[in-house]
Amino acid sequence: MGSLFDFDAVRHRFAVMGNPVSHSLSPRIHQAFARQSNIQIEYTAIQVDPGGFTQAVGNFFSQGGKGLNITVPFKHEAVKVANCLTDRASQAGAVNTLIWKSDQHIIGDNTDGQGLVVDIQKNIGVSIDSKRILIIGAGGAVHGIFFPLVEQHPAHIHVANRTVSRAESLVQKFSGKLLDTTTSFSSLENIPCTDPFDIIINGTSSSLQHKSLALPAQIIKPDVSLCYDLMYASQPTDFLLWAAENHCGMARDGLGMLVEQAAESFYQWLGIRPKTGPILADLERTLHAANDQ
Ligand SMILES: NC(=O)c1ccc[n+]([C@@H]2O[C@H](COP(=O)([O-])OP(=O)(O)OC[C@H]3O[C@@H](n4cnc5c(N)ncnc54)[C@H](OP(=O)(O)O)[C@@H]3O)[C@@H](O)[C@H]2O)c1
Repeated sequence: MGSLFDFDAVRHRFAVMGNPVSHSLSPRIHQAFARQSNIQIEYTAIQVDPGGFTQAVGNFFSQGGKGLNITVPFKHEAVKVANCLTDRASQAGAVNTLIWKSDQHIIGDNTDGQGLVVDIQKNIGVSIDSKRILIIGAGGAVHGIFFPLVEQHPAHIHVANRTVSRAESLVQKFSGKLLDTTTSFSSLENIPCTDPFDIIINGTSSSLQHKSLALPAQIIKPDVSLCYDLMYASQPTDFLLWAAENHCGMARDGLGMLVEQAAESFYQWLGIRPKTGPILADLERTLHAANDQ
């Protein structure tokens, strides 16, 4: 392993590609992992024009790049760029991590689901085993988290989506791989309220639009339910404000998921599992400072 002061050491090149991407925290997270691991990396944010993604990936790897993170709107296109997919990427139908092995061997992975599971179980300290989970939304992110949640053996997962047909096709897609979990789906208006949920995950982009989801308060178990918004922001999202007003047990945003999915990408590229606590605490401090200004 190289030292920070070994200036001749080969710098591993990584980047995140998306559009927009200038706001991305990934360069900061990966540089922190590299410093902690005593290795030198270059990690940049590359904004890619629509239609230019395949070319941009080809250029990056032909110039010595070793790995890419992929974000909105290219996670589906990245599936076609990879020569082979990990099981979790294939199940998600989306790739957030490309791993260069050779020009003929570029692996597509999806670390989003593992990021969420580690954040919920390790950082927040809530076990998923035997729990009743409500997932709101049925878009790309929910496809990525669904099976990693199932692997933790929850008792039940209900998927509710604005467009109910998308919730139905998501549940059907995974119907043969449910292990011991039962599933159901509905529109947002018809979420069953008779048996409240232990874990409620907002996987919609409603918080980005500052739109309220008009959810019934009865879905929360007072003082127990973990309400988790996949989105992170300097201020609590509308969903998390609603959860707190309705006396949830804990309300958390997706910053921990972001850091944990990055840690899994770092491990897949370099074989080093970084400590996530210090950078997560640092990002939380920065975001709260922005909130206080
Ligand atoms: N923390 C992390 O590391 C991380 C990683 C990935 C994603 N995310 C976050 O996850 C969220 C979803 O991302 P995505 O990639 O899955 O997006 P997406 O594929 O575009 O899916 C959007 C979802 O939101 C629903 N939706 C959009 N606007 C809505 C509204 N006003 N009311 C109700 N439902 C609405 C859509 O419902 P319809 O099907 O009816 O259109 C769909 O289910 C985003 O906030 C993103 O930032 C976080």
